[in-house]
Amino acid sequence: MPRIPFEQLPADVRQAVTDKSGAVRRTVTLQGGMNSGVASVLETESGRVFVKGIASDHPQVTAQRREAAIAPHLPASCPRLYWHLEAGGWSLLGYEVLNGRHADYSPGSPDLALVRAALTELQQVTAPADIEIKDAVDRWRDYAPPGTLQYFSGDTLLHTDFAPDNVLVADGRARLIDWAWPTRGAAWIDPGALALRLMDADHTAESAVAFASRFPSWQNADPKALAALGTATAALWSEIAESDPTPWKQGMAHRANEFELALHRIP
Ligand SMILES: Nc1ncnc2c1ncn2[C@@H]1O[C@H](COP(=O)(O)OP(=O)(O)O)[C@@H](O)[C@H]1O
Ligand SMILES: [Mg+2]
Repeated sequence: MPRIPFEQLPADVRQAVTDKSGAVRRTVTLQGGMNSGVASVLETESGRVFVKGIASDHPQVTAQRREAAIAPHLPASCPRLYWHLEAGGWSLLGYEVLNGRHADYSPGSPDLALVRAALTELQQVTAPADIEIKDAVDRWRDYAPPGTLQYFSGDTLLHTDFAPDNVLVADGRARLIDWAWPTRGAAWIDPGALALRLMDADHTAESAVAFASRFPSWQNADPKALAALGTATAALWSEIAESDPTPWKQGMAHRANEFELALHRIP
């Protein structure tokens, strides 16, 4: 969706932000990311706040509300959510500002060790039982080969969307942001989701799978489960690529096919 500067939001929406954070003195619009109609850093009376927002009638607004619900359950590497408000036809989240940059996933990048540490921390977190989040079994139901869905079941909190602009490197740590798809499921799914993104940053399938295999959850996973993830991932991205010719989606579909082959080779 096109991104607008904070100043172009309706006056009642801006007033609602002022009510939360104090008068807004200066704003900067950020360029990274996919879905947010607003992504701005505000300097306010009470300090700086990162505001992401989406129109309340946009189909992705449910993802934004999930993001608000999961925020209190996230590990320390994630930015603090100060507030969530719905006003004037907009849904807005106000976060702690991270002075960072998007993670560099390329082979040999020093960021890879930081990303591994952040995911290692997340792998310890159990998905909260009292809020509605996605279940991995439902998310992969239409894509996993028959008879394999039970492998996806688990109670770990998963991020699942490791596009490099959803990981900020700030203060010497990798910080997982953009929790639009919090999911309850088997822990090894996240290292797999990250591995596919490493392939998109020029890792070979072998190097990406080797990265995943350093996580205990992956080491302990049944090879049949990993093969099922490969098949499901390839099916999912081929469906996305069929309905949308955007080059990066076509590229992801190619990578997902190679990923599937690599996961079927695991003994
Ligand atoms: N807490 C934060 N502090 C500073 N910048 C952020 C913060 N959270 C996100 N960003 C920046 O804003 C971009 C968009 O945010 P994100 O949560 O990924 O939304 P989306 O991809 O849905 O638009 C990110 O790629 C990142 O560059
Ligand atoms: Mg994003």
